[in-house]
Amino acid sequence: MTAINASRTAHRKVLYGGDYNPEQWPRDVWEEDHAAFDLAGIDTVTLAVFDWGLISRGEDDYDFTVLDAVVERVAESGRQFVMATATGALPPWLAHRHPEVNRTDFDGRRHVYGQRHNACPNSPVFRRLSARLAGKIAERYAGHPQLAAWHIGNEYGGACYCENCAAAFRTWLRERYRNLDRLNEAWNATFWSHTFTDWAEIVPPNALSEHWRGQNHTAFQGITIDYLRFMSDSMLQNFVDEKAAIREHDPSTPATTNFMGMYRPIDYHRWAKHLDFASWDNYPPTDRSEARMAFTHDLMRGLKGGDPFWVMEQTPTITASRDINPVKRPGVLRLWSWQSVAHGADAVLYFQMRQSRGACEKYHGAVLDHAGRTDTRAFREVAELGADFARVGEAVLGARTPARTALLFDWDSWWASEITDGLNRTVSYPQVVLGYHRALWEAGVQLDVLPVDAPLDGYDVVVAPLLHMIKGDTAQRLRAVTERGGSVVSTFHSGRVDQDTNAFLTDVPGPLASLFGVRVEETDSLPGDVVNRISLAGAGPEQTVTATSVFEILVAEGAEIVGTYGDDFYAGRAAVTRRRFPAGGSAWYVGTLLDPDGIAAVLRTVLADHELIGPYAAEPELEFAVRSHGETRTAFLLNHADTPVTVAAHAPGIDLLSGRVVAAGEQLTLAPKDVVVLQETSAVPGSSGTDSANQAIPRSSNSRCSGDS
Ligand code: GLA
Ligand code: ZN
Repeated sequence: MTAINASRTAHRKVLYGGDYNPEQWPRDVWEEDHAAFDLAGIDTVTLAVFDWGLISRGEDDYDFTVLDAVVERVAESGRQFVMATATGALPPWLAHRHPEVNRTDFDGRRHVYGQRHNACPNSPVFRRLSARLAGKIAERYAGHPQLAAWHIGNEYGGACYCENCAAAFRTWLRERYRNLDRLNEAWNATFWSHTFTDWAEIVPPNALSEHWRGQNHTAFQGITIDYLRFMSDSMLQNFVDEKAAIREHDPSTPATTNFMGMYRPIDYHRWAKHLDFASWDNYPPTDRSEARMAFTHDLMRGLKGGDPFWVMEQTPTITASRDINPVKRPGVLRLWSWQSVAHGADAVLYFQMRQSRGACEKYHGAVLDHAGRTDTRAFREVAELGADFARVGEAVLGARTPARTALLFDWDSWWASEITDGLNRTVSYPQVVLGYHRALWEAGVQLDVLPVDAPLDGYDVVVAPLLHMIKGDTAQRLRAVTERGGSVVSTFHSGRVDQDTNAFLTDVPGPLASLFGVRVEETDSLPGDVVNRISLAGAGPEQTVTATSVFEILVAEGAEIVGTYGDDFYAGRAAVTRRRFPAGGSAWYVGTLLDPDGIAAVLRTVLADHELIGPYAAEPELEFAVRSHGETRTAFLLNHADTPVTVAAHAPGIDLLSGRVVAAGEQLTLAPKDVVVLQETSAVPGSSGTDSANQAIPRSSNSRCSGDS
């Protein structure tokens, strides 16, 4: 595990602070800032994210006067800092002198100067000068005793379609395919006369070439998915360039960049090994995104094999980018911040420490508002959380999630399923994954979210919704899970295409067919308001649930039928199947988009078979998450509901927030949005990896015996 977080510094606690841009204010305001930061328990600030234009007014012109002063004042305060490479936005002189650094968009329009996060990743000028800037900054601040980490670039994303990118794409393709025959085969080029005879004939897929109706409608999925991969790799190269420049001056301070969770343009799994630790910006799309955030934290934690990550940004109050920007209700900041820690964050940072004076984020929330007040509700909540983190100290630092359930997430399947004609375009990959995740989350399962090539040995249950593309040995590794007694769950639209997006020339679900013992005879897609009733017998108590959008008509070939359609010409045909394996595990195939009750019925049956249902599964809005470190287990109870909840404690322990000693089975009442951080006192060291919390739980009423174990 990479030596990150507080262990590098005197701060043996969850790091707390955020993006700090004092260069926007006069010096006397800096004094006010630091006085307020002391009140709020702020120990870490991120500097210089957008300072390219402040530091450099020309190619050979670097001036660190202001940044030096900022660093000096921060250092004086005893705080540590995360230093950015300042390449998050281009300065005007650069775009003016070298128009090639500006991106060309999907419609083929070369942009002129403006905004941020918009450099052409394959511009030689951008690559040279961004790396040079990173190097200059590293040279200046490497070795500073209060330097905690490097923050490279900022929220990488988007795409460019310029000539430099086209040339780099051809190079990328040559490396991937070596020869044009292989490329033509991968892209199935004989369809519509696309056989390429020279690399120079290849142009980026965009509105001027293969696409119509935007990013998802392409004549050739092969070239489009390769361009997505290539763009992700191009921006990764920018990260790698800057990191290499840093490493010339600083061999060891960990480096990261701030990811954006489920962000489609970049395959974070392909980036992960280049980061020393993962970090991400948590701006949920709605105010009831607790399940989604739990998922995203797990996805981010999964990037580095379960190591702790940082929340690099969240807003203390409002965001500015929505049409309607609600404040975080009382208690929500605390609840969501502890949720991130519960899922593995060792740092909780804000965007931003003080509200901008002007420009598009001047109303974005901040620890300090324009007036610099410390007597507001928002500041008080920030300061109370700071005090919480100080109180809890190092209790959870470095601790990991004891998960025996894995949920697979795959950018290739996301891309391939959404750029394809002939499926149901109203079905979105993230929504399907989140639907399965929610059922796991409500059941209080400790979960890892993993790439499809991750080792699956430690998992009893592997859930792989909409696994559209099957690459490498994924099918064999899923099979191995069932052979050693574990269970696998997958859904419709899985096992459809190979790594090139070409269909398998076999029954659907292709390489997964033998695992599930099922064959898809037909796939019906219907508008979302058309409902088919599904009778489930064998996933909990016999019941009828509903399904929409996608209806695969299944033929069981070795599997037993668990769910059947109730309507349309396929009434009575199989919709959900289960294949049992001699070692006791099962492979479940869900051929339709079940409603939440249907998904929960299937997943709770699977989880119950493996005794993985959490202790508070009867309270879906009470989240349960565990971090463990050696023999110490810390359980987090997070009440997302607007009403109080009372439960019997699953284990004895001490609530690190209130100091209250809790006995096992004692009634615990959590107010709306309240949090309990229970350091368990009946640790179960070495109990063969069994989750003590789960031991306390009777198998749920809908559990059933697999019968053949
Ligand atoms: C992102 C950026 C920040 C800021 C915030 C606003 O996360 O990294 O610079 O723009 O969004 O929410
Ligand atoms: Zn470009």
